[in-house]
Amino acid sequence: MTDHLAVSHDAPPPTPEHPTPGVQAQHVRRSFGSVLAVADVSFTAPAGAVTALIGPNGSGKTTLLLMLAGLLKPDAGQINVAGFDMTHSSYDARIRIGWMPDTLGTWDALTCAEIMSFYGQAYGLSKGLAAARAGYMLNRVYLADYANAPARVLSRGQKQRLGLARALVHDPQVVLLDEPASGLDPRSRIELRDMLRSLADAGKTVLVSSHVLSELEEIADHSVFLQRGQSVDMQELQQGITQRGWRLDALEPAALQAFLNAKNVAWRPGLASTSEIVVNLANQEAALALLRDAIVAGVPLHTIAPVSGRLEEAYLSLDGERQ
Ligand SMILES: Nc1ncnc2c1ncn2[C@@H]1O[C@H](COP(=O)(O)OP(=O)(O)OP(=O)(O)O)[C@@H](O)[C@H]1O
Ligand SMILES: [Mg+2]
Repeated sequence: MTDHLAVSHDAPPPTPEHPTPGVQAQHVRRSFGSVLAVADVSFTAPAGAVTALIGPNGSGKTTLLLMLAGLLKPDAGQINVAGFDMTHSSYDARIRIGWMPDTLGTWDALTCAEIMSFYGQAYGLSKGLAAARAGYMLNRVYLADYANAPARVLSRGQKQRLGLARALVHDPQVVLLDEPASGLDPRSRIELRDMLRSLADAGKTVLVSSHVLSELEEIADHSVFLQRGQSVDMQELQQGITQRGWRLDALEPAALQAFLNAKNVAWRPGLASTSEIVVNLANQEAALALLRDAIVAGVPLHTIAPVSGRLEEAYLSLDGERQ
């Protein structure tokens, strides 16, 4: 973000091993007891771009982000943030990271301005600069009126915005956000999108996890897909999609599923509703034939439409925990 209150942390010079000051993960792994939350993740999120981290529930997004933020130790693998190795130079990496967790835990009795100033100072800003940055960021997320209100009075969406402001209080080089759009109303989502874009335009590294695929599609320059704790190559994933996804929905979902099973048409759950399902079809003729057969068979089909976005199509081809 270009702002008059920029905080400078000198970036290390690029080296052949770490050519960009963004985020690099190599063969990162982490388990909790017998649960392998992150199995093997490798990817790069370059500086000056927004990278989307996409995956079904339980695919390891939060666990991965916690490791990238230096808040959880990987069992194996290497993490480099802003040119610093997270294992050996954790302080240097962490001071350059802005972290927005999926739910913001705060001291409810402190005011928004106090919380912001506290975090600013914890990140090494002087008292004066922390207070100035706190005011500036609260203004950016339209919470200036709440600067002196205790955090407990904030609504869920306002708390999310405080979380975003807090993540950016020290003007970090790398911003990691876990589901930042959740709980935000449409206007706030657009503002979030614009803010992430302006951070990237100012040369920051932005890595954002979300389920709101249509928004990510508009804003993300790169996507990293996670499937059962493993990163999936987007190109490979898209090449694997030779047939187009079509959404189907029926008044009696069980009848539709039985019809498809009888015809040996593979299907998977869709995203729009619990009854929606998605099938892969070669072309419009195949869709028309399926529609005709369904009507003849008496299946109360009320929707048949192509899956819309590129990300949504790739997402639906991922192996989620529901498959
Ligand atoms: N502290 C923990 N202890 C035990 N298991 C955990 C812990 N944290 C995560 N897991 C498990 O690791 C897997 C990955 O969880 P994670 O929270 O990283 O997924 P996610 O992709 O962020 O999911 P969501 O979209 O629901 O936020 C899940 O199976 C989860 O149950
Ligand atoms: Mg999560």
